[in-house]
Amino acid sequence: MSADRERTFVMVKPDGVQRGLVGEIVGRLEARGLRLDGAKLLTIDRDLAEDHYAEHVDKPFFEDLVSFITSGPALAMVWSGQDATRQVRQMMGDTDPAVAAPGTIRGDFALDLGRNVIHGSDHEDPGANEREIDLFFDPDELVDYDRIDEPWVYE
Ligand code: RTP
Ligand code: MG
Repeated sequence: MSADRERTFVMVKPDGVQRGLVGEIVGRLEARGLRLDGAKLLTIDRDLAEDHYAEHVDKPFFEDLVSFITSGPALAMVWSGQDATRQVRQMMGDTDPAVAAPGTIRGDFALDLGRNVIHGSDHEDPGANEREIDLFFDPDELVDYDRIDEPWVYE
């Protein structure tokens, strides 16, 4: 299925790390059949945060967002699979956990817009996934391999 494989950038935000949700979130993505291609735990600095959230620079919540995302360690990851960017966004649920559907990560583990535990590249912003992967990872930090269950995940 490698022709259809797409990579997407995913991050467990500092609230998710502090609340011990790393295993739960990684477990959901793994169980879905998505493949983990890279991961690093880091405390994001201000420059990286401003680059990552550049699209929001003029929004009133920008300062709070940068302050929160730099406030502690976050788990940056690359996941891949068929339609991975859109599928991860669906698993995350609505930006505001108050209206995110039960069964989604935000709908199950969060309550507040400013503490929504996970980031995923926007599938409605073409190239956002590649841009964010490049921001957080060098090419040699990513791995390409066959997961042994692939014939059981893809027809
Ligand atoms: P993210 O980028 O963090 O994965 O979230 P998202 O795509 O679902 O939402 P986005 O529109 O990109 O917003 C980025 C983060 O900013 C905070 N936010 N606050 N006060 C507000 O109106 C507001 N709107 C967005 C949220 O924490 C959101 O995750
Ligand atoms: Mg976003």
